[in-house]
Amino acid sequence: MADSHIFFLFILISICNLHNINSSTCTLDFKQFPYEAGGECIDTAKDSKPTRSMYSCCHSALQPIYQAMVMRANLSRFIFLDPTQAQDCSAMYQGIHNRTNLSNCRFQDFISSSTTNACSSDVNSVMDLLGIERYDDLRSSCRDLLMGNYSDDVCFNCVISYRRSLQALEEGNGGKVEGSNGRRVCAEALLVTLASSDAGSRSWVQGTFSCLWDEIEFSWPPQKTKGSLLRSKKLLAAILIALSLVIIALILYKITRKRLQYASQKEIENLSVMVLQKTLEDDSANPFSCSGLYIFSRDEVSRATDYFDSSSLIGEGNLGKMYIGIMPSGMRVAIKRINEGMKLHGFVGEICMMAKIRHPNLVTILGYCDKGDQCLVYEYCVNGDLARWLLGDQRAQVITWEQRLQIAIGIARGLWFLHNNPLEKMAHGDIKLTNILLNERLEAKISDSVLWNHKSKKMNELGTMANDVFNFGVVLLQLLTGRKRIDLSSSKPQSLINEARNIVSKGGSAYSMADPRLNGAYDPTTFQTVLLTAVLCTTASERERPNMEVILRKLQDTEALV
Ligand SMILES: *[C@@H]1O[C@H](CO)[C@@H](O)[C@H](O)[C@H]1NC(C)=O
Ligand SMILES: *[C@@H]1O[C@H](CO)[C@@H](O)[C@H](O)[C@H]1NC(C)=O
Ligand SMILES: *[C@@H]1O[C@H](CO)[C@@H](O)[C@H](O)[C@H]1NC(C)=O
Ligand SMILES: *[C@@H]1O[C@H](CO)[C@@H](O)[C@H](O)[C@H]1NC(C)=O
Repeated sequence: MADSHIFFLFILISICNLHNINSSTCTLDFKQFPYEAGGECIDTAKDSKPTRSMYSCCHSALQPIYQAMVMRANLSRFIFLDPTQAQDCSAMYQGIHNRTNLSNCRFQDFISSSTTNACSSDVNSVMDLLGIERYDDLRSSCRDLLMGNYSDDVCFNCVISYRRSLQALEEGNGGKVEGSNGRRVCAEALLVTLASSDAGSRSWVQGTFSCLWDEIEFSWPPQKTKGSLLRSKKLLAAILIALSLVIIALILYKITRKRLQYASQKEIENLSVMVLQKTLEDDSANPFSCSGLYIFSRDEVSRATDYFDSSSLIGEGNLGKMYIGIMPSGMRVAIKRINEGMKLHGFVGEICMMAKIRHPNLVTILGYCDKGDQCLVYEYCVNGDLARWLLGDQRAQVITWEQRLQIAIGIARGLWFLHNNPLEKMAHGDIKLTNILLNERLEAKISDSVLWNHKSKKMNELGTMANDVFNFGVVLLQLLTGRKRIDLSSSKPQSLINEARNIVSKGGSAYSMADPRLNGAYDPTTFQTVLLTAVLCTTASERERPNMEVILRKLQDTEALV
């Protein structure tokens, strides 16, 4: 009798073991969207605060998991995984990518369902919350995101429609969206729902993710939604502090009521500015709170630039010096350290706003620091600025006519995007060779984004855009000639603009102006067209200057001829 009991137990244990080994509950298929994580996902220095390297490693490793969830949602309509399955899928994914330790990414916290958020039920409920009209509108705005046909304009329209839908989703969710975590759940659900509607087209799913992935504000380490808010000790402490502050304020108010009555309007304004600044500072407590921008500590920035060593210096602008920085992951960035006297008010708010304006021909802001020093961290453009190529010494490599044309079109695209940005139309205000950077493929990227906003706010909007057009015309002339705006070296100082105007109006030889370093290797017709465009841009009367749309079309037509 006892023997059979033991035998039974033995069988039971065997079955359990078999179960543990063979049956993972994970129903995700990771084969369709492979990813090989590159960097280190663990921070060896300190466990509490994630480094940028860990952030970007986890961030990009997470994407294929979501793409696998899209495939599953297409078949089952479910978006998120139940906690056991989420655990199993994370483990399985780690098993596939065993060269990278993904344990700190805590993927299961992102991909498991939350009971408190209506967005997280399934595809059908997301569509119900959204309304079929808006859903169709979103799908049609994003329809052309096929990888082979991917363009920024298509992505831009898709992003705008996605943001509108997300807002509708949050409103439809009946106030159940709690904080940034709740927002994130809805943003994820919306992306998965959209992509699952045509899961058969891998190219479209990838295009949709390329375009919308950055819209989701992941944070590391992930914050769990709290079942009961009061369970959070932090919150309780905050409430207690707030209560005591209210009491203190009441007492202070009683004491100073008399004096307050005489407080000027200005003082009251100052007070509200202070409150606003405090809010911004509190927002910045979370290193990823502002559109995925990273907040660098003073230490990280100092180490990356070798303590702002002169050997790291790569340029100097109106606001401050620019350094090259090397992050622990090996990634190179450009760091602008704002001069002491130039410190900006409303710095963080400004950067958050600028970070939302993304385009391949605008230098991307990666992050900033605001403690101790103010600095801005940008993507690094390995080929430096355009002045170095056009006005630099003769030993520098020469850029060909085709490359110059591509650069001109790139700048025009960036400027057109700024001038027509539906979020907020804006002018750059300072287009010049040193503000045009070139990446490893010699693609043009317009820099000094924060500067433009500060300068242009005070000016008349149209005036500044026309001013941008004028300055773009000068850049075109410099691309044609490789010369300074005003040549002081010759005996008779001659303005480039006047020279070009004279040639066009009096019918001189355009080719006499061509950069000698081109060695005659340019297409005469396109040269003429670009020269003519430059002269139009630099017309003295603002109203006669073409807008960026017209200019861009003209340049693109020229390109088609080459
Ligand atoms: C990692 O995975 C590969 C392929 O899945 C396998 O060949 C290799 O043995 C694994 N390495 C370790 C350390 O588990
Ligand atoms: C991954 O890193 C964590 C520390 O962050 C460590 O505890 C764990 O053992 C590591 N796992 C593997 C498989 O190396
Ligand atoms: C790319 O988009 C254009 C315009 O929307 C469309 O006419 C064309 O058929 C698309 N090409 C592919 C390969 O889908
Ligand atoms: C799943 O994907 C297929 C292929 O793209 C699509 O035709 C179908 O409508 C999708 N199913 C759902 C329920 O969205």
